[in-house]
Amino acid sequence: MKAVILAGGEATRLRPLSCNTAKLMVPVLNHPLLENLINYLKRNDITDIIIALGQQVEQIQGYFGDGSKYGVRIVYSVEHFPMGTAGAVKNAERLLGEPFMVFNGDIFTDIDLTAMMDLHCQKKACVSIALTPVEDPTIYGVVETDAGNRVKLFVEKPSRDEVTTNMINAGIYILEPEILNYIPPKVFFTFERNVFPAALERGQAIYGYPSEAYWIDIGTPEKYLRLNHDLLQRYVGNKRVKFEGESAVHPQAQIEGAAIIGDGCFIGKNSIIRGPAVIGSGCQIEEGAIVEGAVLWQNCKVGKGAKLKNCVVASNCYIGEESEVLDGCVLGDNVRIERGNKLSQGIRIWPDKSIEPDAISF
Ligand code: GDD
Ligand code: MG
Repeated sequence: MKAVILAGGEATRLRPLSCNTAKLMVPVLNHPLLENLINYLKRNDITDIIIALGQQVEQIQGYFGDGSKYGVRIVYSVEHFPMGTAGAVKNAERLLGEPFMVFNGDIFTDIDLTAMMDLHCQKKACVSIALTPVEDPTIYGVVETDAGNRVKLFVEKPSRDEVTTNMINAGIYILEPEILNYIPPKVFFTFERNVFPAALERGQAIYGYPSEAYWIDIGTPEKYLRLNHDLLQRYVGNKRVKFEGESAVHPQAQIEGAAIIGDGCFIGKNSIIRGPAVIGSGCQIEEGAIVEGAVLWQNCKVGKGAKLKNCVVASNCYIGEESEVLDGCVLGDNVRIERGNKLSQGIRIWPDKSIEPDAISF
């Protein structure tokens, strides 16, 4: 079966992480989110992949190429204006024929796709939608089903009083080609607000495949940090420290898992890295610095005695001596926090900004 991965859209909620980096190229445990999705498709025997996207085409195409490195075939369907989730699939119609799958590209999951396909065939469905339970359905698409899993109602981004279930659209669909007839060509059109409600009204067989498997979408930096933490616990193991290459670690540095240390890092004397933590390649953690619960991208420098806790720091940042970056703070690429600053309460700093010494204590 072919799969379309939706990789367009603005990713405004993920800023400043998505300012220079395509949303799907944001590193999760030091690898682009999209790489995880492609490996997941491969594990599920889906090897014909169409990536639908509008911007930052070179970033994605340059990295994944024709997919041969991953044992899959990738072709790119490029939009010249944002076409929406369904418009993007319509735009790739010439590449599709048989029943096919669509994936929101910004999800991380191990929902069982074979079981989902079995249900799709058994029900002779026109559309199957993977469903996952969440705490707050208002930021997703709510999907109400009957006892036989047939979808009764689809409400995208419902208000509180429209929420009738905690099961939401997990962003994975199996579609019969006839669904493409619901999508006009060359206009902005979405599955969530246009196609699914219209197909329901026409009485099409739309089924939900409920799953309790791990699922998250990285819409915001908070969820991005949570995904990294979750995966460290799951795949690296509570106490494990995984080195991805050669790094120089001072004998008096202390590293507690779960942690991943990228290639070519320097971890100085008396510094402490306490998991869950991800350190990108080429990072320098100077003497006495503390990194705990944080995700650092590549080539960051953390000065003497600085402290990073539960924060995300994008590439090429500098955190000066004795500075602190805490509690959900997010730094874009190339940010300089000079010595003696204290950032907390989820402050976000846009790429290329510099904070003078002793300027912020918040
Ligand atoms: N090619 C292309 N073109 N892709 C797009 C476009 C577009 O114009 N717009 C959005 N996408 C991609 C995004 O990159 C993302 O991978 C996916 O489509 C969904 O878009 P989001 O903007 O992330 O939507 P959302 O998270 O608010 O809601 C969607 O996902 C939820 C699950 O994560 C909806 O499908 C909800 O119903 C669903 O619950
Ligand atoms: Mg999303």
